Amino acid sequence: KNIALLAGGYSGEFVISIKTAETIEKNLDTNLYNVYKIIVTKDEWYHEHGKKIQVDKNDFSLLVDGHKITFDCVFIAMHGSPGEDGRIQGYLDMMQIPYTTCNAIVSALTFNKSYCNKVVKAFNVVNIANSVHLIKGEPYSMGAVLDELKLPVFVKPNESGSSLGVSKVKNVEELLPAIEKAFGEDKQVLIEEFIEGRELTIGVYKVNGLLTALPATEILSQNEFFDYEAKYTPGVTKEITPAQIPAQVKEQLETKAMYIYRHLNCRGIVRMDFILEAKTNKLFFLEVNTMPGQSENSIVPQQVRAAGMDLKKFYGDLLEDCLR
Ligand code: DAL
Ligand code: MG
Repeated sequence: KNIALLAGGYSGEFVISIKTAETIEKNLDTNLYNVYKIIVTKDEWYHEHGKKIQVDKNDFSLLVDGHKITFDCVFIAMHGSPGEDGRIQGYLDMMQIPYTTCNAIVSALTFNKSYCNKVVKAFNVVNIANSVHLIKGEPYSMGAVLDELKLPVFVKPNESGSSLGVSKVKNVEELLPAIEKAFGEDKQVLIEEFIEGRELTIGVYKVNGLLTALPATEILSQNEFFDYEAKYTPGVTKEITPAQIPAQVKEQLETKAMYIYRHLNCRGIVRMDFILEAKTNKLFFLEVNTMPGQSENSIVPQQVRAAGMDLKKFYGDLLEDCLR
């Protein structure tokens, strides 16, 4: 079987994507699959084989040593656009090539934090922080934002990952610069009330119709929040897998995460982020990552190992599910 492993992408998460793809490539059985890594940038989509071979985008094929290679499945390992926001999924749908992630509409929905919050809120199974959604070009007033929300707040690009462009705002004076910074990354901005509590994150995946929640992780960041530096600099953050949480919280977290996965109609491995509010002991939903980071020491690989599985079996199962 020929497998395309798509890495790179157009966003600031390019470097992370390369690491995610490395882990996946290392753990796919080369006796069973011919894996062709394809790097996607704004200018070119190419496979490296002595030289750069460009993808024929008319049918998503490669010409390698005079042979035309087409693909049985695409393993997507791109964070951000176009790998996580439904664009590549829409293209592959049109090419009629199966892929490992959520479909185009689910990817597009979950990548838009504001829209996803509204849909998940309607499920009525989890709390969602109060928020304001700003759109570039639409007038807004600081006063209206502050009437709506209590400080501190998080100001985020509405469609982004790895906390790029995210600020935690404690004082009124910091709000406008934070909004401008977030608008530097995206045409939409989400401002959300800060929920004080423990940060928990959980991988959920489906193989052969069987939905499984992985052991959750608690994130203890030494930074003000789990920002880009805290996410990717060794030692800045302690990640405890499995999270040391009461059995009842664990059960709630798994049940809610699996409910959301099922009702959003997710596919493959996703990771959902939550806050366990200190004051109320209630779970707040933060977001779904349909293309979670999977460098060797990232959270999802940690959770897979904590579940007693090896990464070869995990990625093999995900791929087989795509090929079925
Ligand atoms: N966006 C990063 C890669 C994550 O969610 O893990
Ligand atoms: Mg994210």
